[in-house]
Amino acid sequence: MKLADNKATLSFSNGGPSVELPVYQGSIGPDVIDIRKLYAQTGMFTYDPGFLSTASCQSAITYIDGDKGELLYRGYPIEQLAVNCDFLETCHLLLYGELPNADQKKTFSDTVTRHTMVNEQMQFFLRGFRRDAHPMAVLTGLVGGLSAFYHDSTDINNPEHREIAAIRLIAKMPTLVSMAYKYGIGQPYMYPRNELSYAGNFLRMMFGVPPEDYVVNPVLERALDRIFILHADHEQNASTSTVRLCGSSGTNPFAAIAAGVACLWGPAHGGANEACLNMLEDIQRNGGVSKVGEFMEKVKDKSSGVKLMGFGHRVYKNYDPRAKLMQETCNEVLNELGLENDPLFKLAKELEKIALEDDYFVQRKLYPNVDFYSGIVQRAIGIPVNLFTGIFALARTVGWIAQLNEMIGDPEYKIGRPRQLFDGATKRDVKPLAQR
Ligand code: CMC
Repeated sequence: MKLADNKATLSFSNGGPSVELPVYQGSIGPDVIDIRKLYAQTGMFTYDPGFLSTASCQSAITYIDGDKGELLYRGYPIEQLAVNCDFLETCHLLLYGELPNADQKKTFSDTVTRHTMVNEQMQFFLRGFRRDAHPMAVLTGLVGGLSAFYHDSTDINNPEHREIAAIRLIAKMPTLVSMAYKYGIGQPYMYPRNELSYAGNFLRMMFGVPPEDYVVNPVLERALDRIFILHADHEQNASTSTVRLCGSSGTNPFAAIAAGVACLWGPAHGGANEACLNMLEDIQRNGGVSKVGEFMEKVKDKSSGVKLMGFGHRVYKNYDPRAKLMQETCNEVLNELGLENDPLFKLAKELEKIALEDDYFVQRKLYPNVDFYSGIVQRAIGIPVNLFTGIFALARTVGWIAQLNEMIGDPEYKIGRPRQLFDGATKRDVKPLAQR
């Protein structure tokens, strides 16, 4: 960490001695005030629920400038990666810091491809679930369950174990997600095919059936690959912070990633694409475009509890750059499938148009996020709504594992242990039951 020229001085209005705090500079982005010794110096904690002003770690993986609407993986703008690279190149970049050259790309793709099968016993584990279980419930279990099957990669302190666990997780997630899907609809699992691309193999495992050959549609393959790239990492979001916190106890990588899957499930995070599509279908059922105005009034009425899903972001206070790319992909996929007049797409565009002009949204800097269009794309591809967050988890796995490995490799890493402002009962005595 690079010390800044200036220091921060914290003074107290009650005349207590002021303290000087070091300031560090990143390569870009806001400086940070180092408060690690604050408690020792003052007996006080800082208070920041929701981490609105707290950098929880140092990281060299992903940078977001929310005001500019900029997202960089290892310095590369997401717009360039989405157009010039595929998902596995992006995985290489996130994991190892650099885009692969042609040889490295081949080696990395071969390695991932050769780990796509899962232990045959996993299907019996999967059978314990109800057929109508939510895929995220199934995935949380299956990903955590990997630690029971791959004992040779569970030592988080061993760099070789971390490396093989990373490859296994990236390689096996598409297999697990498609198994969860096939199980739910009662079809046989499709084994992976090594000659297909990462996205092509996933499409086949999802939509192929044993009695026929499956021909991968290159437009859908590219669309899915782009969804994966756009969701691959996003700095210290809730699920990534969960993975880091969970992994900081020294637990195995599969358990830490399972914690990330569980966190991602929530509607304020990865569950937003599912919630967004449900919202669009709801409006469509209740009158479609003609009811948009009425719906927007509800959104603006705080007492209604209704939010415009797929809008707003903790960090982006300008357009989410992923949303632009996803809108492009949405056009491509709908054209390819002859769904240009898809009513949900029209509805989404109408909602977006109104929201971008409405004072409520403009003042609060609420713009469409990646999930606003990703649900429409996935639905057009044939992915059921309740699997959307599973697709997000599949894509984010590389980000989680890259962040986890970065943390473990950081000499300053400690178990995460936040403190609290206690405002409960002070010390009191237990009365015997008869006197309570
Ligand atoms: N619809 C209506 N009002 C909203 C929305 C929305 N989608 N998002 C924020 N607001 C309002 C909010 O009520 C608040 O108003 P006020 O200042 O009058 O109290 C103001 O905007 C600021 O919102 P906030 O809740 O303080 O912002 P936050 O940074 O805590 O929340 C968010 C960010 C993403 C949780 C929130 O915008 C939201 O719930 N959006 C809908 C869910 C969604 O699309 N999530 C996907 C995020 S992108 C995928 C990912 O990276 O996980």
